[in-house]
Formats: sequence, C-alpha cells, structure tokens
Amino acid sequence: MYFPSRCFTVVLFFTGLSLMIPHPSVAQETTIPILTENNALVLRAGKNGDLGVIFLGRKLSNAAEYDEVPGMFRQGDDYTNSLNAAYTPSGARNLLEPAITVTHSDGNNSLDLRYVSHRFTKVDENVSLLSVELKDPVYHFDVTLFYKSYYREDVIEQWSEIRHREKGNVLLQKYASANLYLKGDRYWLKQYHGDWAREMQPEESQLTHGIKTIDSKLGTRANLFQSSSFMISLGTPATEDEGAVFYGSLEYSGNFRVDLELDYLNNLRIIAGINNYASAYTLKPGESFVTPVFLYTFSDKGKGVASRQLQRWARTYKLVDGNGDRQVLLNNWEATYFDFNETRLAELIKDSKKLGADLFLLDDGWFGNKYPRNDDRAGLGDWQENKIKLPNGISSLVREAQNTGVKFGIWIEPEMVNPKSEFYEKHPGWVVKQPARAEHYFRNQLVLDLSNPEVQDFVFGVVDHLFTENPTLAYIKWDCNAVIYNAYSTHLRNQSHFYIEYVRGLYRVLERIRLKYPKVPMMLCSGGGGRVDYAALKYFTEFWPSDNTDPAERIFIQWEYSYFYPAVSSSNHVTDWGKQPVKFRTDVAMMGKLGFDIVVSKLSENDLRFCQEAISNYKSLKDIIWHGDQYRLVSPWESEFASLMYINPERTRGVIFNYLVSSRYGSGSKLPVKLKGLDPARKYRIREINLYPGISSLIEGEKSYSGDFLMKVGFNPQVNSGRTSVVLQFEEVL
Ligand code: DGJ
Repeated sequence: MYFPSRCFTVVLFFTGLSLMIPHPSVAQETTIPILTENNALVLRAGKNGDLGVIFLGRKLSNAAEYDEVPGMFRQGDDYTNSLNAAYTPSGARNLLEPAITVTHSDGNNSLDLRYVSHRFTKVDENVSLLSVELKDPVYHFDVTLFYKSYYREDVIEQWSEIRHREKGNVLLQKYASANLYLKGDRYWLKQYHGDWAREMQPEESQLTHGIKTIDSKLGTRANLFQSSSFMISLGTPATEDEGAVFYGSLEYSGNFRVDLELDYLNNLRIIAGINNYASAYTLKPGESFVTPVFLYTFSDKGKGVASRQLQRWARTYKLVDGNGDRQVLLNNWEATYFDFNETRLAELIKDSKKLGADLFLLDDGWFGNKYPRNDDRAGLGDWQENKIKLPNGISSLVREAQNTGVKFGIWIEPEMVNPKSEFYEKHPGWVVKQPARAEHYFRNQLVLDLSNPEVQDFVFGVVDHLFTENPTLAYIKWDCNAVIYNAYSTHLRNQSHFYIEYVRGLYRVLERIRLKYPKVPMMLCSGGGGRVDYAALKYFTEFWPSDNTDPAERIFIQWEYSYFYPAVSSSNHVTDWGKQPVKFRTDVAMMGKLGFDIVVSKLSENDLRFCQEAISNYKSLKDIIWHGDQYRLVSPWESEFASLMYINPERTRGVIFNYLVSSRYGSGSKLPVKLKGLDPARKYRIREINLYPGISSLIEGEKSYSGDFLMKVGFNPQVNSGRTSVVLQFEEVL
C-alpha cells in the first residue's frame, strides 16, 4: 500500500521539449526520474497525489524499473504515507520534521500538498529544469518544486517557490529549499565546524536516530562556526575512490539550517534551507516566496569523483569567470597592517613588480579622516582616503601601479561600520542595533542595515565611486568581519523578515555591481572563511579560506575546502605565519590562486629568487591548477605527508604537491604515491620544480614511466625532514 505498483512513468529528460504533464484525471501514479550522466533522483506521485522520493543514487539502465524500487524495501510501516515526501507539509498527516509549516490566514496550522503537474524544460544541451506543482486540496496554497540538473556534472540545484491566494496573509513558519530521502543501512555525516583562523574543521560520525541539525544564526559571516556544506556516506565512510557519498550545500549567505533526520524506518530525511530562527515570514496573497538553492551531487565511486564533479560545475556555472584567468597579487595587510603612507605603498608597489606579481592589493586602513582608520576601532564606514596617509588619494596609487607595470586592487568592508565614525554619527538609523539595548560589538564594529534600500544604495555607491574615480581599478577584496547582534531594523515594519531581507539586500547590491562591472575580480573575504557559499560566489572570483596562512594549517584547511570548491576559487597567500621556510609556504599557496602578503624587501636574496622562480613556474602551470582535475592522493589526516595532484583534461601534463606534515623521527614518504587520472598507455616524465637556489633534486628527471606503472606502483616524491615540501611536474613523453 505504501508504494503501489500500477504506475505512469514519464521519462522526458533531454528530449528538447518543454512539456507540461498534468496529473492524469483517472488517479494514476506518476514517476518522474531526474537523470544526470551517472545518477538519478526519482520522484513519484501516488494515486492520492502524495509526492515522494523513491530513488536517489547511481542510475538504472532501464528507467522503467524505478517503479519496482519501493517494493524491494521491507522496512516497516509508514503510517503517514509521507516519510519520503518530496516536500513535507506539517499539521495534517505528518509526524516527523516538516519542510514547510504555515499558519493560514484563518489561523489554521495544517497544510497538505498534493501533486498537480510537472514540466521539464531543457535550458541547453547540458542543463534541464524540472518544476513540479503541488497544491493543498483545502486551501488556495501552492508550492512549486524546482530541480535544475546539470547532466555532465551530476549536479542538481533544488529550490521551492511558495504562493497562496487566501483571503489574508499566511505566516510561513518554516520554508525549506529541499527535502530529500536517502536509503542505506548506515549513514556517516561529515560536517565542518570552526572559528576565526580555524575554518573547515571536519568531523565524521555515524548518524543515530532522531535529528541532527547543522545551522547558523549569525546573520552575516554565517559560516564562522559551521558550514552548510556537508557529506553523507552510505554504509561505510566513503574514501577518495570508494563508497557511495552524497554532497550537499546550501547556496545562501545568511542563517541556514540543515536537518538530518534518521527516521524509525532507518531512512535519512534531509531538509535544508533558510534557518527559520526568528524568521517567521508573512506572505501576502499573490506574493511568492522563493527559497535559496540547495545544491547536491552524488557519487558511488567515492569522494574524489564527487569533488571533481562539483569543482567542474562551479567553474562552469557559478564562479565569476570560473574558467578564466587570474592575477598573482601582493597584498600589504601583513606587511604593514594599518601603518603605511604613500611612500611606503609606492615601495610595496615596486616590490610587487620585482617579485613578479601582477597586481598590488591595498588592504584595510586607507580611509577615515575625523576618525582615521589606524586600528580596527575607528573609521570603518568613512570611505574617504585618509589625507595624512594618502594626501594624493587612491588615484595617485593607481597611477603609481600603472607606471610600475602592475595592476591595483583595494580592500573594502562596505557592510560594516565602527561606532566611532562620521558615518555612524550621520546615520545611526542605518545600523543594525536594538533601539533600547546596549550595543554589542564584534571586532569593534556593527553591521549596516542592508534591508534598507538607502543603505543598499550607499554600499553600491562605495564600490561604484571607487571604479568611477579609478576606472583601471582591477581587484576588490570584500571583507565582512562581524556577525549580527541585536538584530533590528528601523526600516522594516516586520522584524521577523530582518535576517532574510538583509541577505536579499546584500544580493541586490552585488547584482548591481556585477551588472555594471561584470568581470572585475573580487575576493569574498569574511575575516577568513566566514562566508563561503555558492550564492555569494556567484558574484566573486575567489574566496579567502582563512586568515590562518600557516602552511601547516593551510594544508588541512585547503584540503577540506577542496571537497566542495575548486582550486581557482581558493585565494592562498604566502605570509609570515608559521615556521616553515618560504619554499614550503609558497608551495602550499600554489595549490590554488597564489598571492603574497610578505615584505619583499626583507627577503634574503635566495628567498626572493626562489619566489620569483616559483611565480614563473606557477604561471606555466596555473591553467592546470585552476582548471584541471584535482586528485587528493595522500591525506594529511592519515599519513605523515600529504600529496595532491592536478592534471589537464588531455591527461598530458600535471603537477603533484607533497608536504611533510609530521615532525616525528623518520617521517616521510616511505611508500610510493599512486598517481591517478593518467592514461595507462602513455609515458610520463617527472621532474622536480620549485627547487630552492643551490639545492639539487633527488628525483631523476630524465626517466620516464608508464601511466600504468605510476598508477599501480606509484612514484616516491622522497619527502622527508630534509625535503619537507616537494613539487613535481609531469608531462607526457612522446
Ligand atoms: C580580515 C581579513 O581576513 C584580513 O585578510 C584583512 O583584510 C583584515 N580583515 C583587515 O582588517
């Protein structure tokens, strides 16, 4: 009775049609498979219109057999016929965590949603959109579920649109983006927690019955303590090359909530969306509420495949210019902090050129006059050049950079304000704070009320003014260092809309910026990785993973980000954090988008030469690192060293980064590292690059090996306490 067998199966995917399929008037079951190259998500509407998820995994050869799937499970009774609901309504038959909870205009709390019709639209040869209409049989209340599938990348983006035509307003108490259902005998959650300088700390544990919630209530800098990216392994924890694994991530920069509910039948219900904490949403008749997107992919061949799928997808469909070029930059933050002037910056600009960088990035501290930004206690919000530090303004620095032959970029934090600022004095009402409570600060600052269109104009104006005054400005670092305390907007009538309206305001500003400046590289920074999600990354070329640039830490942080984000999006800077030599620091930073934040003039002659050569090596390899396939070969969590490899799509060239991560006696690469993704029939020559001046390599660079050998036996990079960082370049020998 739970999964009856008489069915009406519709397989229309990739037929080039946009077709609306109404529910047949004679009650029939309708099966809706969403197919990608390797996977399938299959929905089915029962005779009574209940829409459920009946399959999520590696796709079947014969789509007609999806209808047989439910009958193979004998896990017990679903008393509600809705445990596997594609979007669980609450207050009617539901007994578990809902995806949507509403209070109707008449005060009634019950909702039921039944399938009405669905429509497949082909967006292009790779992308399709399925929309499924659901309706409450009693109330004029509708939900459309959207599933955008990327065939080659095996990625699905899912979101919902909620509408009603009731007599008065409806209160949305919960309004998830997606509701999925996984079947397995055991479920292993890999989740991420953190704080400043400790981003993306992984934890993997077996889910037990009940609900595990991953969420954020921080408003801004929403990922500071938790990331909305997670993975679920089915059966046993997936490895790089084995096991079934589901990756999920909410594309949203505000409060999020992911509920993972292991139900009494031992299936996993995943409900992800905006966090409804303090955010009951009043929806007027005729208005629609569109949720953010929940993103997911699946692999039955381990985490490596899933990452490469997601990385490819991100470069092609999300990041600004994800398949384009990037610049190596020199940043002055750690070189000067707030203590600089025009002369000092002119020297640093020259140093950028000397180093071989393409761009100089001026960080925090360039603004504020009545309250100069000489530390983080004052000046934020006053975006006028400080007349003492920069008497000739930003434009003279841009000119200086131009004359030197490098580009110029600048740091801003336009969503924030120090109470000690002219801005705050003029616009106390534009700041997020409770009217009758004491202010509470995060890094001595408060958040601007981006729900207010006037504030949106102001924030857009900060960026627009910089570009209008300096048309050759070539890079923006957009920082966001505070969370929201005392959430309250003088602009909004309904304070329960505040967190949502803040994020909408932020996206409106970013949208305007991108409309006017479509390609300018922008770094998404949030005191480190406090805001890393694909909704924000749609407007950015890269993100700042962490202020912690100690390479011993970065190996781990970058490793974990790499599960979800491509190397081209990870800004890695060489700084003075950590005790490792400059070679080690540079090698680690080279695994993504390379930058520097050091005092070039203080480098020894050999250190400088090393950096210059490393940049030149990087430039010859950057296309592979940024746009090639990445393989995590040896995990720093499980071994005395770490090894990561990048290879071009033609499988002819690549690079392998190897680092010692243990300081114990005798640590190193005792066993060869098995390479991946090579062509077994081709021959490859491997040679060591990024050698420190005067040091010769132990690697015999002239020998060649078959791809077969390198993948079955492997290659030893000879990492040890005397060779703590080894970069190997390989290419096909013809
Ligand atoms: C936090 C960022 O993460 C740093 O890189 C730097 O830009 C500072 N803010 C500046 O205040």
